[in-house]
Amino acid sequence: MLKDIHMLFILLSVGGFISRIILVQFKPAWLQPKIAKIAPHVIDTILLLSGIGLVFQGNWMAGEYGWILTKLVMLIAYIGLGVVAMRSVGIKRWGAFVLALVCFGYIISVAVTKHGFI
Ligand code: HEM
Repeated sequence: MLKDIHMLFILLSVGGFISRIILVQFKPAWLQPKIAKIAPHVIDTILLLSGIGLVFQGNWMAGEYGWILTKLVMLIAYIGLGVVAMRSVGIKRWGAFVLALVCFGYIISVAVTKHGFI
Protein backbone atom coordinates (compact mmCIF):
# COMPACT_ATOMS: atom_id res chain seq x y z
CA MET A 1 0.00 0.00 0.00
CA LEU A 2 2.67 2.52 1.10
CA LYS A 3 4.90 1.30 -1.73
CA ASP A 4 2.04 1.90 -4.20
CA ILE A 5 1.78 5.49 -2.89
CA HIS A 6 5.57 5.84 -3.27
CA MET A 7 5.37 4.60 -6.88
CA LEU A 8 2.40 6.87 -7.68
CA PHE A 9 4.16 9.97 -6.35
CA ILE A 10 7.37 9.06 -8.20
CA LEU A 11 5.34 9.22 -11.43
CA LEU A 12 3.53 12.42 -10.36
CA SER A 13 6.83 14.05 -9.42
CA VAL A 14 8.70 13.35 -12.65
CA GLY A 15 5.57 13.81 -14.81
CA GLY A 16 4.81 17.13 -13.11
CA PHE A 17 8.42 18.27 -13.48
CA ILE A 18 8.53 17.52 -17.22
CA SER A 19 5.12 19.22 -17.67
CA ARG A 20 6.25 22.34 -15.77
CA ILE A 21 9.42 22.68 -17.80
CA ILE A 22 7.40 22.47 -21.03
CA LEU A 23 4.90 25.04 -19.69
CA VAL A 24 7.49 27.49 -18.38
CA GLN A 25 9.12 27.40 -21.80
CA PHE A 26 6.02 27.59 -24.01
CA LYS A 27 2.99 28.60 -21.89
CA PRO A 28 4.30 30.33 -18.74
CA ALA A 29 0.90 31.91 -18.02
CA TRP A 30 -0.51 28.43 -17.32
CA LEU A 31 1.81 28.20 -14.29
CA GLN A 32 0.33 31.28 -12.63
CA PRO A 33 -2.63 29.65 -10.78
CA LYS A 34 -1.86 28.95 -7.12
CA ILE A 35 -2.47 25.20 -7.56
CA ALA A 36 0.32 25.03 -10.15
CA LYS A 37 2.73 26.63 -7.68
CA ILE A 38 1.75 24.54 -4.65
CA ALA A 39 1.24 21.09 -6.25
CA PRO A 40 4.95 20.27 -6.83
CA HIS A 41 5.78 20.93 -3.15
CA VAL A 42 2.88 18.78 -1.99
CA ILE A 43 3.88 15.96 -4.38
CA ASP A 44 7.57 15.99 -3.42
CA THR A 45 6.69 16.13 0.30
CA ILE A 46 4.41 13.08 -0.01
CA LEU A 47 7.13 11.31 -2.05
CA LEU A 48 9.64 11.98 0.73
CA LEU A 49 7.21 11.01 3.52
CA SER A 50 6.22 7.77 1.76
CA GLY A 51 9.95 6.95 1.38
CA ILE A 52 10.53 7.62 5.09
CA GLY A 53 7.48 5.46 5.88
CA LEU A 54 8.93 2.61 3.77
CA VAL A 55 12.25 2.89 5.66
CA PHE A 56 10.43 2.19 8.94
CA GLN A 57 8.03 -0.36 7.47
CA GLY A 58 10.88 -2.45 6.06
CA ASN A 59 13.19 -1.75 9.04
CA TRP A 60 15.78 -0.75 6.43
CA MET A 61 17.91 1.25 8.88
CA ALA A 62 18.76 -2.01 10.71
CA GLY A 63 20.99 -3.20 7.87
CA GLU A 64 23.11 -1.54 5.18
CA TYR A 65 21.41 1.83 4.73
CA GLY A 66 23.93 3.78 2.62
CA TRP A 67 21.57 3.45 -0.36
CA ILE A 68 18.83 5.30 1.56
CA LEU A 69 21.20 8.18 2.36
CA THR A 70 22.24 8.17 -1.31
CA LYS A 71 18.56 8.48 -2.30
CA LEU A 72 18.07 11.39 0.09
CA VAL A 73 21.16 13.24 -1.21
CA MET A 74 20.11 12.63 -4.81
CA LEU A 75 16.52 13.72 -4.04
CA ILE A 76 17.88 17.06 -2.80
CA ALA A 77 20.00 17.31 -5.99
CA TYR A 78 16.93 16.46 -8.13
CA ILE A 79 14.80 19.12 -6.44
CA GLY A 80 17.61 21.72 -6.49
CA LEU A 81 18.33 21.13 -10.19
CA GLY A 82 14.58 21.33 -10.84
CA VAL A 83 14.46 24.77 -9.21
CA VAL A 84 17.46 25.90 -11.29
CA ALA A 85 15.80 24.53 -14.47
CA MET A 86 12.56 26.41 -13.73
CA ARG A 87 14.30 29.72 -12.91
CA SER A 88 16.95 29.74 -15.64
CA VAL A 89 16.68 30.25 -19.37
CA GLY A 90 18.38 28.78 -22.42
CA ILE A 91 21.19 26.26 -22.11
CA LYS A 92 21.29 26.55 -18.31
CA ARG A 93 17.61 25.56 -18.08
CA TRP A 94 17.98 22.55 -20.37
CA GLY A 95 21.30 21.49 -18.79
CA ALA A 96 19.74 21.53 -15.31
CA PHE A 97 16.66 19.72 -16.68
CA VAL A 98 18.73 16.88 -18.15
CA LEU A 99 20.88 16.62 -14.99
CA ALA A 100 17.73 16.50 -12.81
CA LEU A 101 16.39 13.60 -14.92
CA VAL A 102 19.78 11.83 -14.66
CA CYS A 103 19.54 12.17 -10.84
CA PHE A 104 16.00 10.79 -10.97
CA GLY A 105 17.09 7.79 -13.05
CA TYR A 106 20.00 7.18 -10.69
CA ILE A 107 17.62 7.26 -7.67
CA ILE A 108 15.54 4.55 -9.34
CA SER A 109 18.61 2.40 -10.01
CA VAL A 110 19.71 2.86 -6.37
CA ALA A 111 16.19 1.92 -5.19
CA VAL A 112 16.19 -1.26 -7.26
CA THR A 113 19.77 -2.41 -6.55
CA LYS A 114 19.85 -1.11 -2.93
CA HIS A 115 23.38 0.12 -3.64
CA GLY A 116 24.42 3.76 -3.57
CA PHE A 117 27.64 5.77 -3.32
CA ILE A 118 27.43 6.19 0.48
C1 HEM B 1 12.83 10.88 -6.56
C2 HEM B 1 12.80 10.19 -5.45
C3 HEM B 1 12.60 8.70 -5.36
C4 HEM B 1 12.48 7.76 -6.34
C5 HEM B 1 12.50 7.97 -7.86
C6 HEM B 1 12.32 6.48 -5.68
C7 HEM B 1 12.15 5.27 -6.33
C8 HEM B 1 11.89 4.06 -5.73
C9 HEM B 1 11.60 2.83 -6.42
C10 HEM B 1 11.52 2.64 -7.94
C11 HEM B 1 11.43 1.87 -5.47
C12 HEM B 1 11.09 0.39 -5.70
C13 HEM B 1 12.33 -0.46 -5.70
C14 HEM B 1 12.02 -1.94 -5.83
O1 HEM B 1 10.92 -2.37 -5.51
O2 HEM B 1 12.91 -2.68 -6.28
C15 HEM B 1 11.62 2.50 -4.19
C16 HEM B 1 11.56 1.85 -2.98
C17 HEM B 1 11.94 2.40 -1.78
N1 HEM B 1 12.15 3.74 -1.54
FE1 HEM B 1 12.18 5.22 -2.90
N2 HEM B 1 12.36 6.67 -4.33
C18 HEM B 1 12.54 8.01 -4.09
C19 HEM B 1 12.66 8.61 -2.86
C20 HEM B 1 12.82 7.93 -1.67
C21 HEM B 1 13.20 8.52 -0.41
C22 HEM B 1 13.47 10.01 -0.21
C23 HEM B 1 13.27 7.51 0.51
C24 HEM B 1 13.65 7.52 1.95
C25 HEM B 1 13.72 8.57 2.72
C26 HEM B 1 12.91 6.30 -0.16
C27 HEM B 1 12.86 5.06 0.43
C28 HEM B 1 12.51 3.88 -0.21
C29 HEM B 1 12.52 2.56 0.43
C30 HEM B 1 12.88 2.24 1.88
C31 HEM B 1 12.17 1.64 -0.55
C32 HEM B 1 12.12 0.10 -0.42
C33 HEM B 1 10.75 -0.42 -0.24
C34 HEM B 1 10.80 -1.95 -0.23
O3 HEM B 1 11.43 -2.58 -1.11
O4 HEM B 1 10.19 -2.49 0.67
N3 HEM B 1 12.63 6.59 -1.49
N4 HEM B 1 11.89 3.83 -4.37
